[in-house]
Amino acid sequence: MARTEASVTDAQASSTDFSRPLLAWYDRHHRSLPWRTPPDETKLGVLPDPYRVWLSEVMLQQTTVGAVKRYFEAFTDAWPTVEALATAETDDVMKAWAGLGYYSRARNLKKCAETVASEYDGRFPDTEAGLKALPGIGDYTAAAIAAIAFNRPAAVVDGNIERVITRLHAIEAPLPQAKPEIRTLVAQALPHDRPGDFAQAMMDLGATICTPRRPACVLCPITDGCTARREGTAERFPVKAPKMEKPARRGAAFVAVRADGAVLLRQRPPTGLLGGMTEVPGSHWTARQDGATDISAAPFPADWRETGSIRHVFTHFALELSVFRADLHNDQLPGDQPPGDGWWSSPDTLPGEALPTVMKKAIEAAIPGATRKPRKG
Ligand code: ADE
Repeated sequence: MARTEASVTDAQASSTDFSRPLLAWYDRHHRSLPWRTPPDETKLGVLPDPYRVWLSEVMLQQTTVGAVKRYFEAFTDAWPTVEALATAETDDVMKAWAGLGYYSRARNLKKCAETVASEYDGRFPDTEAGLKALPGIGDYTAAAIAAIAFNRPAAVVDGNIERVITRLHAIEAPLPQAKPEIRTLVAQALPHDRPGDFAQAMMDLGATICTPRRPACVLCPITDGCTARREGTAERFPVKAPKMEKPARRGAAFVAVRADGAVLLRQRPPTGLLGGMTEVPGSHWTARQDGATDISAAPFPADWRETGSIRHVFTHFALELSVFRADLHNDQLPGDQPPGDGWWSSPDTLPGEALPTVMKKAIEAAIPGATRKPRKG
């Protein structure tokens, strides 16, 4: 019976009180993550370092736990404390962030570290409201840090938790409309003794058992109270409002390669999409077909050859870039000084440049393997 109907069954009653079996499951099956303190320690009052919790939560907003681990380790090796990050060079932070996307978040990360170091004596505020006053910290991140790092009874709702709750209660309202209802249900279920573990248990359940497809309901610790499970409809939730197709844009990217293998790079304008990040020269990205997305947009005359095209989907549009490569022999160089504000990046330095994923794809289309970092060890 879906939640839109009025009667309250026993199972629905127990679906509001699922925190005990969930926490018992988390005690045994929690994922071991580099920013996490395991439950046998949190139960003794040992909480994780708020700096590490904040950093992981900002990173996890754009990608999966698997992809974040490597970035998290690189950041905490380079900047083990919020004070260290506050005094880091912005350029180095952008380079370390490159590939994670949403680059304004990297800039806010730095601003937030500076604020915590200078105005809060290096200590993160320990309430949701205090955390939300910091640059780049919104509702979700404030709730997650308050719960995980300070054991505050904050209702944390991310995509995994939305899936668990909409299934548990068979919520027919689509996302994002259902968000306030989901938040209320999470708040009602919060165990006040272990809110941080509860949030992380919900995340782990969503990531490992209550998965988008083929959920492992037979292994689920809260299956008894789950309406969607009982009705065999788990995969239908969460219901999502139909997505609008993203508008298409086109452009051209130019990979100039010097005889020693160095590639010509430049910096994007400081604000706007991918602001301040590194790119190869290119055309504007335009929605019209009449834009100069061919060799007429090349940064200087050379023997440009089209080596392929790449696609990249941004939040608001899908981009198709034609990629051109020119191999410059010394007599063709437009001077050893690169044109404009660019610089030549050698094969050694290229993988460490602050190249967003779209630019890595473009360079890879011209020089396969060029942006990949050599493995450690
Ligand atoms: N996803 C977002 N935050 C997370 C966390 N703290 N642990 C696991 N998965 C997460």
